[in-house]
Amino acid sequence: MNTVKRLLEAKGHGVWSVHPDDTVLDAITILAKKDIGAVLVMEGDNPVGIFTERDYARNVFLKGKSSPGTPVREVMAKPVIFARPENTIDECMSLMTRHRMRHLPVLDDGDLVGMVSIGDLVKSVIDEQKDTIEQLEHYIHG
Ligand SMILES: NC(=O)c1ccc[n+]([C@@H]2O[C@H](COP(=O)([O-])OP(=O)(O)OC[C@H]3O[C@@H](n4cnc5c(N)ncnc54)[C@H](O)[C@@H]3O)[C@@H](O)[C@H]2O)c1
Repeated sequence: MNTVKRLLEAKGHGVWSVHPDDTVLDAITILAKKDIGAVLVMEGDNPVGIFTERDYARNVFLKGKSSPGTPVREVMAKPVIFARPENTIDECMSLMTRHRMRHLPVLDDGDLVGMVSIGDLVKSVIDEQKDTIEQLEHYIHG
């Protein structure tokens, strides 16, 4: 079973983030420009929250709040649920299901080393299944 460490080696270690005092408009501009569904909220080196499209829909739009006038700290989700590099893909899926999160920042000994999303996990599972099928076909057909 693939691990978060291997997934990040292929995907990269960068994490898009905002400061809690940045506005919702700042955050959704990054979501749109980078074509991603979540930004981590960082106070210095500390991840203090996560802000997702879901948080925007429920905590900003539906409540009639203004994107340029609302700081991210007011509408972000917390506490942050983290993965570790040694976690397997199954363990991450289980964390996501339990906490109803689609993104997990990755901490290695307290240091932020990446972010994995539900799509990353699905891709990893599909890739592993493809490998297994290829191996079996090779075994059958010689
Ligand atoms: N082909 C691929 O490699 C691949 C990988 C992931 C997702 N997808 C597809 O993209 C669509 C949306 O994906 P999703 O719902 O998983 O989430 P998403 O749109 O938030 O994530 C897309 C990619 O950006 C990365 N990402 C997201 N937020 C990030 C952040 N703040 N910092 C750094 N990286 C960040 C994710 O890890 C993922 O690799 C789905 O249709 C999914 O199938 C494809």
